[in-house]
Amino acid sequence: MPSNNPTIVLTGDRPTGKLHLGHYVGSIQNRLKLQEQHDNCFYMIADIQALTDNAANPEKVRENTTEVVLDNLATGLDPEKTTFFIQSQIPEIAELTVLFLNLVTLARLRRNPTVKDEMKQKGFGENVPAGFLTYPVSQAADILFCNSNLIPVGEDQLPVIEQANEIVHKFNSLYGETFREIKPSLTDTPRLVGIDGQSKAGKSLGNAIYLSDTPQEIEKKVMKMYTDPDHINLNDPGKVAGNVVFTYLDAFAPDKKEVQELKNHYQKGGLGDVKIKRYLIEVLEDFIAPIREKRESLSQDPSYIKEILIKGTLKARESAIETMKKVRHAIKIDHF
Ligand code: TRP
Repeated sequence: MPSNNPTIVLTGDRPTGKLHLGHYVGSIQNRLKLQEQHDNCFYMIADIQALTDNAANPEKVRENTTEVVLDNLATGLDPEKTTFFIQSQIPEIAELTVLFLNLVTLARLRRNPTVKDEMKQKGFGENVPAGFLTYPVSQAADILFCNSNLIPVGEDQLPVIEQANEIVHKFNSLYGETFREIKPSLTDTPRLVGIDGQSKAGKSLGNAIYLSDTPQEIEKKVMKMYTDPDHINLNDPGKVAGNVVFTYLDAFAPDKKEVQELKNHYQKGGLGDVKIKRYLIEVLEDFIAPIREKRESLSQDPSYIKEILIKGTLKARESAIETMKKVRHAIKIDHF
């Protein structure tokens, strides 16, 4: 396929839980921008990938399939501009994965920093499911089955994209020019710290504010947020760097001047943690309220959601069938 073909954008979420503010700043805001700039955008619910470490929890994956669709629709991903589809409903992705598995080594998969981190986080040790260890290969198939080449992702996914490009190069060199180079697309804030200030906001770490959180949940979480442990008395000078309240204000407060003034005041001393937290609660409520409302109204209409998914999956499947014809021909398994 010549490289002057149009840009095709593809991204996805594992349906393992509701999405949070970290997903928004790390990827969703980019999806929203890209769907305005490109005619071909895909959004995948990566249920097969979710099963790689949830084989025993199919109901969880099934339930969260709807949740991640609602989160994306509520933030403004538009099914008229972005094709929504479910990974498990495109069998060609599984077929492509099997063929790609021959192009990577186990040693290389074990060295993938994203997989390594996640394996540690999940405590797999040597008992890692083979499907989990090889998920970067199936993710390469997610991307390439529809010839997509621009991938909005969080920073943690960069090694997965790098490995997908190695598959592209290997495939093209063995079987002839077939796939295009893949480019990741990052936001300005690819990683949002958790409310505990310790690590990235994560579903499994219980330190995230969700796009569907109630005003009470938002308030409770902000009140617990990590600030500056040395800022004990009101008049002590406080630190802004590493202070989670300011990190979230930087990411979500529309009035940057106000934030700068608060920072100056806090650094000088005389501005209390409760004051800045109250301000952040307001900012986050203003941001989340319309998303929460839209989510609520969309959830009243399951048949509309189903229709979007069926229509999108049929469209994605057309690309998949076309790509597999080329791939089978290239690998000389186009027998009949
Ligand atoms: N691995 C991604 C994540 O955990 C989800 C995903 C699956 C994905 N397939 C994809 C992202 C293809 C981009 C492209 O967030």
